Amino acid sequence: MATGRLIRNYNLSHAIQGSDCGEVLIHLNMKMRVLLCVLLLGFLGVCHGGGLRKNFYKNSCPQAEDIIKSKTQQHVLANPDLPADLLRMHFHDCFVRGCDASVLLNSTATNTAERDAIPNLTLAGFEVIDDIKSEVEAKCPKTVSCADILTLATRDAVSVQFNKSMWEVLTGRRDGTVSKSSEALADIPRPSFNITVLKQRFAIKGLTLQDLVVLSGAHTIGDAHCILFSNRLYNFTGKGDQDPSLDATYAEFLKTKCKSPSDSTTTVEMDPDSSTKFNSDYYTNLLQNKGLFQSDAALLTQKKSADIAKKLVDKKIFFSEFAQSMKRLGAIEVLTGSAGEIRNKCWVVNS
Ligand code: HEM
Ligand SMILES: *[C@@H]1O[C@H](CO)[C@@H](O)[C@H](O)[C@H]1NC(C)=O
Ligand SMILES: *[C@@H]1O[C@H](CO)[C@@H](O)[C@H](O)[C@H]1NC(C)=O
Ligand SMILES: *[C@@H]1O[C@H](CO)[C@@H](O)[C@H](O)[C@H]1NC(C)=O
Ligand SMILES: *[C@@H]1O[C@H](CO)[C@@H](O)[C@H](O)[C@H]1NC(C)=O
Ligand SMILES: *[C@@H]1O[C@H](CO)[C@@H](O)[C@H](O)[C@H]1NC(C)=O
Repeated sequence: MATGRLIRNYNLSHAIQGSDCGEVLIHLNMKMRVLLCVLLLGFLGVCHGGGLRKNFYKNSCPQAEDIIKSKTQQHVLANPDLPADLLRMHFHDCFVRGCDASVLLNSTATNTAERDAIPNLTLAGFEVIDDIKSEVEAKCPKTVSCADILTLATRDAVSVQFNKSMWEVLTGRRDGTVSKSSEALADIPRPSFNITVLKQRFAIKGLTLQDLVVLSGAHTIGDAHCILFSNRLYNFTGKGDQDPSLDATYAEFLKTKCKSPSDSTTTVEMDPDSSTKFNSDYYTNLLQNKGLFQSDAALLTQKKSADIAKKLVDKKIFFSEFAQSMKRLGAIEVLTGSAGEIRNKCWVVNS
């Protein structure tokens, strides 16, 4: 029931853009805000990114988006893995306390931050955002949020191979001041999840089944550690068996890379042969039972999600759907107006 409500409210919030619930609700904690959004304001569609707009920095920092784009392009040329690093980082940011750059905060003496919750959350991304931020600060001090920089840089990094922007990014996000590893563990879906739990985790963030299937297509780029799926190869039910829903030939191939069930350091391409190319091969592979994680394979276990996956094999449809779902991802529980702050440095809150 709660799931249905969230999804309906969410769709409404797209029809009516407008005022800013971040400001009204600034003094309430996240759970209360989400609850209030759903119960009281949701029907008006004021939540979920209502405070974002196109080109928010037009007057305050007209060169911001260009700086971010050209810096990002430079970094991608030096590191072809960057689009995947940033895409995953942005997803994790948005799923924990909304897209507020909480993922970028360092741990402190008294707090373990989100970025230290997920083993090996790739480091390259952090340094790149810090580098872009310092360039933006030099031109427009204390103006452009780390949350917007991460959102724009993610879009720009994925877009490099196409030499055009692959989706629209609205701006006006502000930065959060809290980052807790415990929340990352609670909110971020795990690769072992089934379709029921995946749907729930996305619905809590106002995202639909369609968004789940479309955004899983992000696994068309990047790498994954063996340990996150090796149970499918070596010991699926504790009897030394393989996951029968995984293509047997592909499983044999994966075993040549992941040589033992406990290998925690080796990584493999998630989309073999085109792991740096953003395309719709993810769905082609998925439909051949070559999805890498159980969470990928789970998309085929219900007719509705399987039917969506079949449509997304068409690259044109995938790109257009991905653009829409990324906009929704980038609007999750954003801080706008006078909520949060504009961080001076992305890895530490302002003192
Ligand atoms: C549906 C639930 C999802 C699950 C369970 C999941 C899980 C994972 C896991 C376990 C990895 C491998 C991490 C590693 O070994 O270092 C990964 C990688 C990745 N994920 Fe997801 N993910 C999900 C959805 C998403 C979404 C929505 C996006 C972005 C829109 C995304 C983007 C990525 C990218 C780009 C990588 C590769 C990272 C890299 O190579 O640096 N994932 N994901
Ligand atoms: C905080 O993170 C930055 C990179 O984002 C790193 O350069 C710095 O060493 C970190 N500081 C601490 C105290 O861990
Ligand atoms: C990329 O697009 C810009 C304009 O949108 C154009 O000036 C430039 O030549 C293009 N670069 C390549 C490599 O196609
Ligand atoms: C999905 O996973 C949850 C949590 O582990 C479990 O309670 C549920 O029975 C599973 N559902 C299906 C259809 O396997
Ligand atoms: C498979 O899992 C079972 C139960 O968790 C465990 O007892 C066994 O040692 C595992 N086998 C291998 C080869 O890891
Ligand atoms: C992942 O982290 C572990 C422990 O911090 C480290 O030993 C390992 O080399 C890392 N692997 C990769 C691929 O970065």
